[in-house]
Parts: sequence; structure tokens; C-alpha cells
Amino acid sequence: MAFQLTAEQEMVSLMARDFAKKELEPMASKREKEEIFPLDVVKKMGGLGLLGMMVPPEYGGSGAGAISYCLALQEIAYACASTAVTMSVANLSTEPLLKFGDEEQKKKYLARLAQGELLGCFAITEPAAGSDPGSLQLKAEDRGDHYLVNGTKIFITHGGYADVINLIARTGPEKGNKGLSAFIVEKGFKGFSVGAREDKMGLRASNTVELIFEDCRVPKENLLGRLGQGFKIAMTALDSGRIGIASQALGIARGCLNEAVRYSRERKQFGRSISSFQALQWMIADMATGIEAASLLTLSAADRKDRGLPFTKEASMAKLFASEMANKAAYRAVQIHGGYGYTKEFKVERLYRDARATTIYEGTSEVQRIVIAREVLSD
Ligand code: CAA
Repeated sequence: MAFQLTAEQEMVSLMARDFAKKELEPMASKREKEEIFPLDVVKKMGGLGLLGMMVPPEYGGSGAGAISYCLALQEIAYACASTAVTMSVANLSTEPLLKFGDEEQKKKYLARLAQGELLGCFAITEPAAGSDPGSLQLKAEDRGDHYLVNGTKIFITHGGYADVINLIARTGPEKGNKGLSAFIVEKGFKGFSVGAREDKMGLRASNTVELIFEDCRVPKENLLGRLGQGFKIAMTALDSGRIGIASQALGIARGCLNEAVRYSRERKQFGRSISSFQALQWMIADMATGIEAASLLTLSAADRKDRGLPFTKEASMAKLFASEMANKAAYRAVQIHGGYGYTKEFKVERLYRDARATTIYEGTSEVQRIVIAREVLSD
């Protein structure tokens, strides 16, 4: 299946490339080394419509669609993978509001999130509930006109900078993935605080923190969707999020290929450029082929989303393949750079660390295989 991009999709991609080149690339290495979250750039991305690409214009988004979103996110990831995960997670806060929010909630939050006036995050993971979010413990108890929330979330992407938290909590006595509900929590709600920041292997310009809820009062009107619908809301958001992470992985892999090609042309050993050796050519060929295959899988999932078709299986396939492929590309790019690739002087060292997260968050590769197998077997 070949993709013929529309003129508008091409234009969005070029705009994102231009933006990333000017605003992200020059500082990406410094920010990563010094763990500086690029809030100023994220705000500018909001202004350009990059945080609301799948939100229709009537709710303040740019309505560019999922294919354009994938193309733009790849460009952001190519320049700075840390910022790309923020772009992806911002969608995990707008998507549930768009699909499950009532008109009041959409009016209050959606346009401001889509335009970057507010930054949204997604909080589901807990210390004892990662791949199995059905075992989460954070409680939201009905107290008449509000819910009282108690518990802790961990590994929350840009949680320290988020204005609005899309929170998944236990509201019923049911076990497992039943009895969970979704809430919109504002950072100013009493009883909410940001806890410890993770000291991560990569994506160090992305802020990853613990969120603490101690008798946090959440008004009744901030229940998102119906009571007990939380697991479905989370899974729906993650379907969309997985297309975003596949795109992030693609941007990282493209960076790896580009660096590998450039270095292998410049580096001379045995009296000639190392790109003339077949051993390296095969690595480059495998990287380029993997990128092409991952790109088609990702665009195919996005195309289904744009056309309103089910895309759970396709999003998981794209995320699984693209993230594993990005790790292979990063391994090869470092290998091609030899000893230099193992130093912080060269970009591939950062790409290698950044790629590692992509097979883990928004569902590990093992979880993606569960999703894909269930879909295939139930067909
Ligand atoms: N869309 C809508 N509904 C869905 C769905 C989907 N994609 N997937 C499942 N559901 C529904 C099912 O239909 C089922 O509904 P019924 O009870 O009405 O039949 C219900 O949800 C339960 O489904 P399962 O039995 O499949 O649930 P499970 O407990 O076996 O879990 C799982 C399945 C795929 C393993 C799931 O738990 C999962 O995706 N785990 C990974 C969690 C994850 O990705 N975490 C990422 C954290 S966020 C993050 O990383 C962001 C970041 O910061 C970068």
C-alpha cells in the first residue's frame, strides 16, 4: 500500500520540520544533558496547532488529522525525542475529552488544551499497576458533591508541568479493570501535589514524575464519561497514543539512519570510507527498510483513524514494529560510529538512550502482542 500524501499533509510536515529545526534541534543536546523541560517551545507548538491536530476546529483544534499528526510528530522526534513524547501525551489528554467529555467539559478545557494554553497529562500508572492497569489502587470516593481522591501515580510524562490531569481512578468495589472511572483534575485542586522526578536513562528533557493525591477534592462535574467507564476511556486514549509513539520511534530511527550515513561517508579506515564496506551497507539497508515498513504501518493505522475505522490492532502493530525497529536502528548507528558512538560527543549516543523507552511506555512490546493476538484471534 503506497501513501500519496495530500498537499496539506506535505505542508504540515514541512512546517513541523522547519519549526523543529529552528526551535528544537539547536538546544536538544543541552536540554537533554541538563534535564531542561522545553515549556517555552511546547507553548509555541500549541500556538501552531501541533497540540490539537486531532481536535476538530469547532473545539479549538487544528483538525489536521491523524496522518498529519504522525508526520509532524516524526519531525519533532527527529529533532528532540523528549519533546515528541510531550506532543504524544498531550493527545492522551485531548482524545478522551473529545470522545467522552460533555459539552461543558469540552468548552472549559478542550480548546485551551489544543492551543497549548493548558498542558494536559495522562495518569494511569501506579507502582504496582503498569502493564496491568486493571490492578490500580488510587481511589476516588463519592462524597456527595465531589469525589475524594487518595493515592499515587508514577512515571507521569510532563506531570510536573501539567495544568490538567486526565486521571484514572478506582470508584467501585469491583475487581480488575471494572470499577474504574476517569476524571479531569486541575493542578490547583486542593490535595494534589507533584512528587519525585525520575532520573531516567534517556528522554531527559522530558519531565517524568510522581503525582500525589491526598484527600484531593474533585468536583462531580469533572467525572469524564460515565462512572465505571474509566478502563475503556484509557484504552481508547492509548489506541491513539500508540500511533504517536510509533511516530516518535520513526523520528528517532530516521535520526539514527541520517547520522549513520553521514558518519560512514566521512570516516576512513583501511584507506577508504567505511560506507564502501558491504558490512556497513547491509546495516544501512536494513535500517532504511525497517523505517519504510514502520512508516507504512504507522500511516495505515493513522489513515484508519482518520476514516473513522477501528484501529486498535493497527496502532499496536505500528507501535510494536516501529519501536523495536528504532532500537535496532539505534544499535546499528552506534555500532557504525564505533568508539565515538559510545561517547556523548555524538548524537547517536542520545538517540540510543531515547529509543529504549519506546518499547516500554504506552504498552510494552509484550502488551502490544497481547492486543494484536486477541484482535487476530477474535476476527
Ligand atoms: N478500546 C475500547 N475498549 C477496550 C479496548 C480498546 N482498545 N481494549 C479493551 N477494551 C475493553 C474491552 O472491550 C473490555 O470491555 P468489556 O469488559 O465490556 O468486555 C474491557 O476493556 C477489558 O478489556 P481486556 O479484558 O482486554 O483488559 P485486560 O485487563 O486484559 O487488559 C491490556 C488488556 C491490553 C493488557 C491492557 O491492560 C493494556 O493496554 N495494558 C498496558 C497499559 C499501558 O499501555 N500503559 C501505558 C501507560 S500511559 C503511558 O505510558 C504514557 C506515557 O507517559 C508515555
